[in-house]
Amino acid sequence: MTTIGYIVGSWAEGSVNQKLARTLVAQAPEDTQMVDLDIRELPLYGRHLDEDFPQVMQDFKDRASAVDGLLIVTPEHNQSFPAAVKNAVDILTRPGGTSVLGGMPVTIAGTSPGRFGTISSQSQLRQFLPMLGVRFMGSPNLAVGGAGDVFAEDGTADAQTTERARKFIAAFVDFVRAG
Ligand SMILES: Cc1cc2nc3c(=O)[nH]c(=O)nc-3n(C[C@H](O)[C@H](O)[C@H](O)COP(=O)(O)O)c2cc1C
Repeated sequence: MTTIGYIVGSWAEGSVNQKLARTLVAQAPEDTQMVDLDIRELPLYGRHLDEDFPQVMQDFKDRASAVDGLLIVTPEHNQSFPAAVKNAVDILTRPGGTSVLGGMPVTIAGTSPGRFGTISSQSQLRQFLPMLGVRFMGSPNLAVGGAGDVFAEDGTADAQTTERARKFIAAFVDFVRAG
């Protein structure tokens, strides 16, 4: 059994990234468990917290350290990724010397109503994630534009996106298992 933990960078009602995450969960290959690592309750990290690391942050780190691979599904906010995603990643690396990201297979996906489907957000994630000692899967990529037409109200994706999601999550699980 391969366990993939996922972080979704939006918990807005009707979030299209939550819908994309649900599509990826539904399309995950056999013998794969998809675990929502749930960043909603995480406070804002500050280095003064290292001395008495908050339990809610430690619990999140423990959940993340128990998975075989990490998937980040995130919107684009102001040409970048939301601060909540960076906060979550920072927490996974702190306190110093206790990062759970060393050697962790990581990949990213996202969707937006616009044409470019989170490309700017993803290109910025690509800049720093590999520097954290993760094993980064950069290809295939999953940046889904036109989210308003892709996802039905009930969250189901159209056939083309469902197939893209299936291939993407299969490639990531293969990448994780190959490590
Ligand atoms: C603060 C903010 C900034 C945004 N900036 C961008 C942007 O730079 N590029 C883009 O494609 N969409 C942008 N959007 C629109 C989001 O793509 C859209 O709200 C999308 O539905 C967010 O994903 P979600 O539904 O999963 O929350 C922005 C939305 C918000 C709330």
